[in-house]
Order: sequence, then C-alpha cells, then structure tokens
Amino acid sequence: MSEDKTIYRPSQEIVEAAHVPDYDALREEAAQDPPGFWAARAEELLDWYEPWERVLDDSDAPFFKWFTGGKTNVVLNALDRHQRTATRNKLALVWEGEDGTLKTYSYFALNREVCEFANVLRSMGVKKGDRVTIYMPRIPELLMAMLATAKIGAVHSVVYGGFSVEALGERIEDSESKVLITADGGYLRGKIVPLKEIADEALQRCGTVEHVVVIRRTGEPVHMEQDRDYYYDELMALPVARSAGDGSETEVMDAEDPLFLLYTSGTTGKPKAILHTHGGYQVGTATTLKYAFDLKPEDRWWCAADPGWITGHSYIVYGPLILGATSIMYEGAPTYPYPDRWWRIVERYGVTILYTAPTAIRGLMRFGDSWVKKRNTSTLRLLGSVGEPINPEAWRWYHEVVGKGECPIIDTWWQTETGAFMITPVPSFPLKPGSGTKPFPGVQAEVLDDEGNPVPPGEEGKLVITTPWPSMLRGIYKDPDRYIEQYWSTYEGKYLTGDSAKVDEDGYFWIIGRVDDVIKVSGYRLGTAEIESGLVSHEAVAEAAAIAIPDEIKGNVIHAHVILKAGSEGSPELVSELKAHVGHEVGPIAKPTHIEFVDALPKTRSGKIMRRLLKARAMGLPEGDTSTLEG
Ligand code: WT7
Repeated sequence: MSEDKTIYRPSQEIVEAAHVPDYDALREEAAQDPPGFWAARAEELLDWYEPWERVLDDSDAPFFKWFTGGKTNVVLNALDRHQRTATRNKLALVWEGEDGTLKTYSYFALNREVCEFANVLRSMGVKKGDRVTIYMPRIPELLMAMLATAKIGAVHSVVYGGFSVEALGERIEDSESKVLITADGGYLRGKIVPLKEIADEALQRCGTVEHVVVIRRTGEPVHMEQDRDYYYDELMALPVARSAGDGSETEVMDAEDPLFLLYTSGTTGKPKAILHTHGGYQVGTATTLKYAFDLKPEDRWWCAADPGWITGHSYIVYGPLILGATSIMYEGAPTYPYPDRWWRIVERYGVTILYTAPTAIRGLMRFGDSWVKKRNTSTLRLLGSVGEPINPEAWRWYHEVVGKGECPIIDTWWQTETGAFMITPVPSFPLKPGSGTKPFPGVQAEVLDDEGNPVPPGEEGKLVITTPWPSMLRGIYKDPDRYIEQYWSTYEGKYLTGDSAKVDEDGYFWIIGRVDDVIKVSGYRLGTAEIESGLVSHEAVAEAAAIAIPDEIKGNVIHAHVILKAGSEGSPELVSELKAHVGHEVGPIAKPTHIEFVDALPKTRSGKIMRRLLKARAMGLPEGDTSTLEG
C-alpha cells in the first residue's frame, strides 16, 4: 500500500454551499460543551412529544443516559411528522430489484404500509418491549418491518440475510423474539437465496417464536407451518390491517427506551447484541448525516449497504427518513449482470451522493474505467466510504474515475456500537486519502499507549473515545458485565474501540485496523470465534483457529487452521465439505478461503491460541516475540 501525501481541497463552490463551511470552528465550539452541542441539534432537527429534562445523565457511568425525561419515537420523526408537510408527497424510497423491477414510495405511501403492518403486528400480540427478529433480502418490506416494529414500541433485531442457520437461530434465541419476519427467498447474482428454508431450520433449534410473517419475493413455494406462518400480503389484506382507519398510533417512548438490538462480533465467544435507544440514536444519525454528507432536499442519497448492518440501520433507514430525504436502495450484486450495474443506477435515478465500502470500490475498479465512463454519472457530488481503511489506489480511482475529480470523499469511521459517524470529514474540509480526518463535533477521540498516555504524532496506539455521545450503545443486551469489561475496563472512563490508529502532525486520524479477534472480510465484521465454532461443529473437526490474511479486493480473507479428530484425514474433498459446512451454519460470508490441516496450534501457557504467530507463519513474516509460547 503506497502512501499518498496529497491534500485535496474542496472548491469554493462546495465550501460556500456546505452546511458546515468551517469544520474546525464548529468542532472547537462543540468541544466547549458537547452535551450542549447535541442538545441544540436535538431541538433543531427533531420533534419531541415532550422535551427532555436532562441532556446527559452520567450518574451511573458507563451506563450513560441521554435526553432523559424526553418522550419520542423514531417513527414520529421518520414518518409521522412528514405527513403534515410537503414531504408527504416526496419520494422516500426508490428501490430497484436485481431483476430490474422498480418500486417507489412517497412518504405518504411508506407511512400507510408501515401503519398497516404495525396493526398486523399488534394483532399478533406484539407489545412494547417485545423483540422481533427480521431476516430478509434487501427489499422495501425490510424497512417497513423495522419501522412497524419501532412504531409499536417493540425492539427489532435484524439478522443480515447472508447469515445462515446457526447464526440466525442463536440470535433469535438470545433475543427471545416472539415474531420472525422473513421472505420466501431473495435474489443474489440471479440465484435464489432460500431464506425461509434456512429460517425453518433455525426455528427447529430455538423455541421462542410464535408467529412467522413471510414476504413473497420470489413466489417460489415454501413450507408454511400451520398456525405459525402467514404470508404478509394475506395479513395486509385482513380488515385488522386497517383497523385504525388511515393510521395507527405511534407508541410514545421514553428517550432511553430500546429501539433495536444488532448482533456484532467481539473479542471472544458468541456475538453480542448491541442495544440502541429511541432518543440519542436519532440525534446522532440525523446530525451526522446532515453535516458529513451535507444532505439537502434536492439530493438523491444512495447508501449501498445492507439494512442488516448498522450502516443500513443508520443511513438507509433512520437517518435519511428523519431528514426527509430520498433514498435509493438496490437489491442485488454490484456487478450483476454487468459491471456497470451501479453506474446505471446512478444514471437512471440521478444519484447525487453514493456511500459504499472500499471492498466494493476495489471490486468495481478491477473491471476498468470504461464501465463507469459509458454511463452518465455527472449527478454525483459527494462520495462516501466506510467499513475499513481505504487504500490510496482505491481512493484515487473513486475520486478521479467515479467522481471525475470533483467529488470530495467522505471517509467515515464508526462502529455498530457508536450508532453514527465518529471520525469523518465534512465536504468543506481538506482531505488526505486514507484518513477520516478528524472527530465529528461533539466527539472526542484519542490514541493511547498501553499506559493510557496519548502517543506522539505518527505513532500507533489504541483508539479511544473519551466522552459520551448520544448515539452510543446503551449496553450489551442481558450482559452488563461484558459491556463494562469489553469497552470500559482497559482505560478508566474511556471507551475502547478495538481499533489501532495514528494521529499525524495536523491532527488527522488514520485507522490501522482491529487489534482484537475481529476480522473484516469485504467490510463485514466477523469474530474468529464464530468461524471457529462453525468449523468445530463439523464431526471431523477437533479444534480450529481462524486468522485474517490481507487480500487485494476483500481487504482480508479467512485462513483457517484445523486439527482433525483421530480417524479423520485431510483431503481436498474435506476442505470443500468444511467450507460448505461453515457456509450452512454461519453463512457464506464466514467461509474460509483457505483451510490448512495441522497437528497442533501454537498456544500460550495459559492456553490461548497465538493467532499473531499463525498469521506471521502464514504470511512468511518474522515470528516476533514467542516467549509466552507453551513449551
Ligand atoms: C469496524 C466497525 C459502522 C460502519 C460499518 C462497520 C472498521 C469502519 C472505517 C473507516 C477504517 C473502518 C473499524 C471499526 N471501520 N469504518 N472509515 N476506516 N476502518 O461497522 O461492522 O461495527 O465495524 O469497522 O475497524 O472498528 P462494524
């Protein structure tokens, strides 16, 4: 990876039109009183049923509370309030299926369908606080399911459609979901992903779900369990869907009431459910989207992520809807059927802002410039990046070929846990390729050494956030100890991100990567533990260790070391079988690219697998300090 020292300065035109013309000035102003800064945004950007009494309650740190006493519901701001203004006639969503189907929803139409769906869920007995698991392809009903759940005060847990049986079952079980919303299948690269079949298998392994709602996407026949499974279109045709006339009541929530759980991978063990709430989350997503992407009423915003990840929650669903924006959503693969699919979408719908991941950029760059050039992408004015560090080559291609050298690149660093952007430029700010520039106003970040002292400029250390922010996670569902242990125990009073980073002489932050057992594959976050437990659940496997190996397109790929049980022998067939097994249990995204059969794994004297050593060996690098290796 070559370094690029060029500084890219925005044109005068961009600076003048920006919501934030002087980023450093706003950052400084906010740093004087971060809660005051956030409270001003909460007032300016959102409606509240009742105002808050206290902006930040830190009496039980690190269990911080924001806007306590305030009454709200994310749906009040995302849908309800728009029905009273001209926004009701505006497009909320422009959706294109992989097969070319086009569907559009105005704010009015989206609200009607959400109200009806909310009525259906209520009639199924779903109440405030109940959990609902959503396992769906990238279709409009996914948004509606999330919004309908939030509207009635229930808590959604979206499981990405690329996960499979065990991963889904374990998430349903941990969240004790009463209802599962899924689809008969989804399309990816022209093939059908059998979501209902996977869901049926997962439901055999967990026992809390009473009802399953099935959206028809493919129209293929699927098993429907009597008195448990119902087709969405049939439910929506029932009188109960319209029981409340034109609308259905939005549940009035406390600012701190839970909005959703989202499972993500951590250092050890099972994925953890990150908890976000109604109040602060809205403030964080709306403010960051408005400022960092300079969102204006005339924009057509395309966040190309999946709603099943935090990026989609915050920047396909909640952020854009709260701001009354028009969002583009596309169901399928970027290169299907040809590598110009995305550029055709930009052309067809006049996309002005595109937000995606470096892995997708590298994947498209591979096909050369001509695919972009044959489409009219001149509507683009801003480009965004997220998920992993962007290498300078990909940055330049994105900037020069996709953005014609005119679109600032907004490289946003954040996490499932942070809910919203934490380190990001705004369009008026000078850029350095590969750096997310500086912490957002109201956010304070530092890079520390092991003793907790800030490292000098240019040196690597651990990235921490030093003050609370409104969209921060409120904990790990059902596991307060793990919340403290994982995020707040390394440095007293500071939030540990799990990333290493550097700060340069100009105060720009450079993210290096994860320092824990989290692997980023194509921007997807996976735990080594999840991949390993997928492998070990195969009858031939005794023990496994997964590591990340750098890859030009995907950022990283998974390399698994496997010890077989006595009596089993390694073979190319077994390698394929194990890959398929991990695909079936955890999901296609967790499939190792390489599987190596070994007789032993290097461990420390306390029995921890030394993944660092495995990685050095796999990459042919020096082994470093091996003094803790078991003799
Ligand atoms: C991890 C969080 C929240 C967006 C999607 C990922 C890495 C995220 C960047 C960026 C360098 C990045 C970090 C972080 N990451 N954005 N712009 N530059 N690294 O959310 O799945 O919770 O993963 O993604 O390592 O800790 P996530």
